[in-house]
Amino acid sequence: MVQLRRTLNLFDTISLSIGAIVGAGIFVLTGLASQVAGPALILSVLIASFVATLTAISISNLVRAFPKEGGEYEYGYKILSPFAGFISGWMWTLNKMVAGGVLVLGFATYLSAFFPFIPLKETAVTLIGLVTLINHRGVRTIGTAIDFLVILKLSILIFFIVLGSLFIKADNFFPFAPQGVGGVLHAAAIIFFAYVGFARPVYLVEEIKNPRKNIPKGIFLGLSISTVIYLLVTIVAIGLVGSSSLARTDSPLAIAIASTNVNWAPNLIVLGGLIATFSVLLDDNLALSRMIFAIGRKGDYPKWFAKIEKKSRAPRRAILATGMITAILTFLFDLRQLAEVASFLILTYFALVNLSAIKMEKKKLPAIIPVIGFIGTLSLALSLAVKNIIIGLLLISIGIVYFHLKRSASGTVKRNVIHITESG
Ligand code: ALA
Repeated sequence: MVQLRRTLNLFDTISLSIGAIVGAGIFVLTGLASQVAGPALILSVLIASFVATLTAISISNLVRAFPKEGGEYEYGYKILSPFAGFISGWMWTLNKMVAGGVLVLGFATYLSAFFPFIPLKETAVTLIGLVTLINHRGVRTIGTAIDFLVILKLSILIFFIVLGSLFIKADNFFPFAPQGVGGVLHAAAIIFFAYVGFARPVYLVEEIKNPRKNIPKGIFLGLSISTVIYLLVTIVAIGLVGSSSLARTDSPLAIAIASTNVNWAPNLIVLGGLIATFSVLLDDNLALSRMIFAIGRKGDYPKWFAKIEKKSRAPRRAILATGMITAILTFLFDLRQLAEVASFLILTYFALVNLSAIKMEKKKLPAIIPVIGFIGTLSLALSLAVKNIIIGLLLISIGIVYFHLKRSASGTVKRNVIHITESG
């Protein structure tokens, strides 16, 4: 079998993390989240960051023990059980495909600021096709593109913070939490979407140089930079127009900056929204295909997905299949449903990751960290709208049924659960 190549260094690793983090969450979902939290969205952003950081600590410890393609999927497998491993891989796969819908719809919404006549869903699906084509060409092409796009989108957000901070009005922060603690937690669960991606380098572990060092560093730097930027952007956006104005739009940052009356500023922010959603999409699509490849290689998804093409060194079949499913989901659901279901899936998935860390770490990590991470991720997942929790559970149960059907079809599968040793 053709092997993946180690081509990505620390800078690429940080870039992969930020590239996957800063996207539709901050540019699009700030609107939806401020509907439920009001100005207290600032607290929601902090809560989501706290839960993400705890989970990042758990993941870093797991990576040191298992530097292998497939990330947390492998950890669930090895530490909890083959079923937990499979189902966490399934939740992750689903999350990426549902989140893909949020990203392409977010992109289309920002694009409609330039071209108001475009149909949102059709534009979104065309974009999926384009990203699928780009990823088809192999990882190095994307590595370079992502580095460039990361710098661009961060610069545009910094511009938003600097210009916007000159026009903040204190009145816009009151009433601070009109829907109380429930609203703040619900918004934290929605805006958690904005942090998803911090662990992205884990999925490319076989393509990163010195992964035991570079991955934890890349994750923490990526998460820290994004948290500071998110917090400032949220404060400025609310300070500019207030949470109810943000809540009325799916391009909240463009609306907020328009209030400064600097003519060209909204265009720059729209450009930022396009770049951010597009770059996360590239990144997600890349990771998704690698994950499906890893699960296929293990035999949990059809082996057909596990083939890497010689010329591009990319798992092309996985890339094509995921593009098609994302397109279908985008047609079936609206933006809010997609965002909440995506958050539910990733939060429950991270709950399993924290559980793996609880079981694994007895000496190196204070046990309380993954325990709080576990409680935090589950609590946020359960703070989402009941209807969307149910959609998430239904999607998860398809995986459960598949796992058991496959198992009964192939008889009793004997798997060796590998116990973690000091050397990993
Ligand atoms: N964190 C990514 C985004 O906000 C998924 O688009």
